[in-house]
Amino acid sequence: MQLRIIKMVQGGNGMARLPDGRVCFVQGALPGELCEVELTFQKKDFTRGRVVSVVEPSPDRVVPKCPLYGKCGGCSLQHLESSKQTEYMEQVERENFRRLAHAELPEDFVIHTGNPWGYRNRARVVPQFVRDGGCGGFAFREQESNALIPFENCPVLTPALNEFLQGPARKLFASGVLSHPGRFARPDEVSLNVFDNGKGEVSYFYRGMSREEFQKNAVSVVEIEGRKIEADASVFFQSNLGLLPELVKSVRHAVDEGLSNGNACNDWLIDLFSGVGFFAALLQDKFKRITTVERDEGCLKHAEKNLSVISPATTTVENVSAPAEEWLARHVVDIPATLIVDPPRTGLPGEALDAFVRSSVKRLIYVSCDPVTLARDYAKLATAGFKLDHAEGFAFYPQTPHLEMLFILSR
Ligand SMILES: C[S@@+](CC[C@H](N)C(=O)[O-])C[C@H]1O[C@@H](n2cnc3c(N)ncnc32)[C@H](O)[C@@H]1O
Repeated sequence: MQLRIIKMVQGGNGMARLPDGRVCFVQGALPGELCEVELTFQKKDFTRGRVVSVVEPSPDRVVPKCPLYGKCGGCSLQHLESSKQTEYMEQVERENFRRLAHAELPEDFVIHTGNPWGYRNRARVVPQFVRDGGCGGFAFREQESNALIPFENCPVLTPALNEFLQGPARKLFASGVLSHPGRFARPDEVSLNVFDNGKGEVSYFYRGMSREEFQKNAVSVVEIEGRKIEADASVFFQSNLGLLPELVKSVRHAVDEGLSNGNACNDWLIDLFSGVGFFAALLQDKFKRITTVERDEGCLKHAEKNLSVISPATTTVENVSAPAEEWLARHVVDIPATLIVDPPRTGLPGEALDAFVRSSVKRLIYVSCDPVTLARDYAKLATAGFKLDHAEGFAFYPQTPHLEMLFILSR
């Protein structure tokens, strides 16, 4: 059937209405387009569809660059001109926030942009084993279906990662990783994490690596604003190193603003969901006391190292390995501390939100990789008197509908 696309919605799909009034989310369609759509899913109140052909294309439509577009779920916005993607995302996020948080994003909300291609410095891939046991290449695992999508050259990965996966990584698996008995239950359970530290130096991790192999090949050092930060290919690290300095600059600005307007103080920096202590390491010179809280044990030793080179030497540092919500429930934050939270896609756990609501925290710097959970969390925080002072977006994942966000909240 032919449908006219009304707008783009969260997730990058076009939205249309069927003749019976039901909403249809159409994958691969752009606002204003007239498309021939095949319905792929139907419920009483909404449907899903895919574009069979575009009858009247949008002027912003382009030919997808990657031959795997439509197969690999990864870069589903490739049909939209790169330079237009943030414009569309801004409209999507404004509406998302209105719908989920019943509030408006500030007028001056902007989305920072970087390279539209070759930006992604981290990936998890699955080796494709050939008959003789060697590695013939790599595949992405599709999130929803778990299907494997083999690829040769991924245009959003950094050139160094593509080169590594086309050469050395294959040799790595051919040279007997699987010959270590008992390392993997089944070859299809093997995955490889690769990490480009921004200088084209690639580190990697696979389950079953020996301690020496890990030290030699998984650990890596990233330099941001002249500061060296240690991480490894098995733990979380931001995946767009090109644009990361912009986020750091904005977080730093937010911290300075809190310190100067009296809503936060330099007695205590609390970095929750801190990973390898990334934000704390970059901001440490401003504070007398620093606490980082992170659940993943693998991050802890890096956080300790990253915060061991600290100035002034009088600063006290505590790197806690615990769920942030547990730490918050056990500790009373009764001074106007500087608080940064950077939770995973799922957003803040309910207990963490409850703790903020009960606390005397006046100001919160919230970094988010999912605008939907961010809007949900904001709605809860707003009931406790928090308001949104400032918001910025960061196009960390061009060609995809994902966006990084920074919110500054105060009460
Ligand atoms: C988006 S990352 C941010 C890491 C860090 N701020 C950075 O920029 O590198 C989220 C981090 O939260 C951690 N995490 C997830 N759930 C957690 C929880 N309940 N408590 C503490 N840390 C958690 C993850 O292991 C991950 O390192």
